[in-house]
Amino acid sequence: MAKLDVVIFPDERLRQHCKEVTVFDDELKQLAEDMFETMYADDGVGLAAPQVGISKRLVVMEVPFDEEKPEELFKEALVNPVIIKKENPMVSKEGCLSVPDYVAEVERFADVTVKYQTLDGEEKECTAHGLHAVCIQHELDHLDGKLFIDMLSRLKRQMLQKKYTKLKRREHLA
Ligand code: NI
Repeated sequence: MAKLDVVIFPDERLRQHCKEVTVFDDELKQLAEDMFETMYADDGVGLAAPQVGISKRLVVMEVPFDEEKPEELFKEALVNPVIIKKENPMVSKEGCLSVPDYVAEVERFADVTVKYQTLDGEEKECTAHGLHAVCIQHELDHLDGKLFIDMLSRLKRQMLQKKYTKLKRREHLA
């Protein structure tokens, strides 16, 4: 296993519309494993392939089914996931490994049903609630080049863009 580099906003690779997965081979499994390791290392609950610079419709997550029972975890790699039902708008407080040290409130749905394939290509469906549902919506947005900060006001986004561009420049100089 290997920890991968996380792509940081405003990197253009976060804006790609990712490609459907058609080959379910060892390379895909290895990528998912590496994404899990990267997610754990950065204390995230979810990670999407474009966040490690890969244009594939693959996300990994490890999140409680129910926040009241934190020990029962939905640990899964979702391939070609599609939300087929969403209900009950809610406000969620989110962060993202690609937008470090920033949280914001965005509008989501409290209940979603997602269909996806496993790493072996098996079809599955799952209905999720609360944080689990939010995580699915956040990660799936990444596959279409969308970030949670896109839902903020234009002014807030411009401030963030400046802040992270500056940080990146400093990193390059260091
Ligand atoms: Ni994210």
